[in-house]
Amino acid sequence: MSKSSVYVTRMIPQQTIDTLRERYDVEVNPHDRALTKEELLQAVRRRDAVISLLTDKIDGEVLDAAGPQCKIIANYAVGFNNFDLDAATARGVIMTNTPGVLDDATATHAWALLLATARRISESERYVRAGRWHGWAPMAFIGQDVDNTTLGVAGLGRIGSKFARKAAAFDMNIIYTDAKPNAEFERQYNARFVDKTTLLRESDYLSLHLPLLPETHHYIGAAELSAMKPTAVLINAARGPLVDEKALVAALKQNVIWGAGLDVFEDEPVLAPGLAELDNVVIVPHIASATTQTRLAMGKIVTDNVIRVLSGEAPLNCINLQVLK
Ligand code: DGY
Repeated sequence: MSKSSVYVTRMIPQQTIDTLRERYDVEVNPHDRALTKEELLQAVRRRDAVISLLTDKIDGEVLDAAGPQCKIIANYAVGFNNFDLDAATARGVIMTNTPGVLDDATATHAWALLLATARRISESERYVRAGRWHGWAPMAFIGQDVDNTTLGVAGLGRIGSKFARKAAAFDMNIIYTDAKPNAEFERQYNARFVDKTTLLRESDYLSLHLPLLPETHHYIGAAELSAMKPTAVLINAARGPLVDEKALVAALKQNVIWGAGLDVFEDEPVLAPGLAELDNVVIVPHIASATTQTRLAMGKIVTDNVIRVLSGEAPLNCINLQVLK
């Protein structure tokens, strides 16, 4: 019997590819870049399984190009706003993601952004590297305190709650919004469930941990930024379109808020005009889950899901559950 064919849309850890190769014919995108739509349509043809990235839009056209034998599209990411779930369900294709294994890495990275923004780490490092530092100065690179301030968390899911828990190290007051209050979390971490207006008004640091859905698109826009404290810092390591990036650039320029730390952008890899010129923003290229251990763990999940589905079993991380009925 011929081996099943698996396509991987971009190089992921070699260990993951090797494990897949023990069972399947595996082909990997040879380029060090995302595939164009045309290339993707070609590459997925006649595959039994595809391992995709958040940069690959998997819609009906791609699923049709893959063909009726394609059983699973496994996203190498926890976010799946690149998937058309209805199109996959209609065609009987299982879609999976990688939840759980990247919560700590992503939450820790949001903290790295928060601390770097509050203490002007990127800006002052650029200054030193440029040879502009001529000795200690009492008024240079004055930042914002983190300890004993108020941390706002929008979305207390797996990543948001990991992020919020780490605030204990800084004796912060935690306020949060979510679909509903989490009494156990509140008791354990002395957190307070608030509405969005209170979250915006009271947060010294506001970190977004929401999925990207039509109702969360531009969750933070000009009006929300104006409702925040002029000393506030906005952190986004979730999805770029949660923030109206043009409005954020304007707010940062006019000091409507004090700073922002961004891992994700509205139209990656393109940045809103003016963003990269601002000193009061820390910008990094969507690397929240980029640790050796986490990326291997993500590889293990996609591999397990592909193996299960190609062996006729249900996957562990199906997103379009209706397809299994
Ligand atoms: C995800 O998994 O959704 C991240 O954005 C990339 O790891």
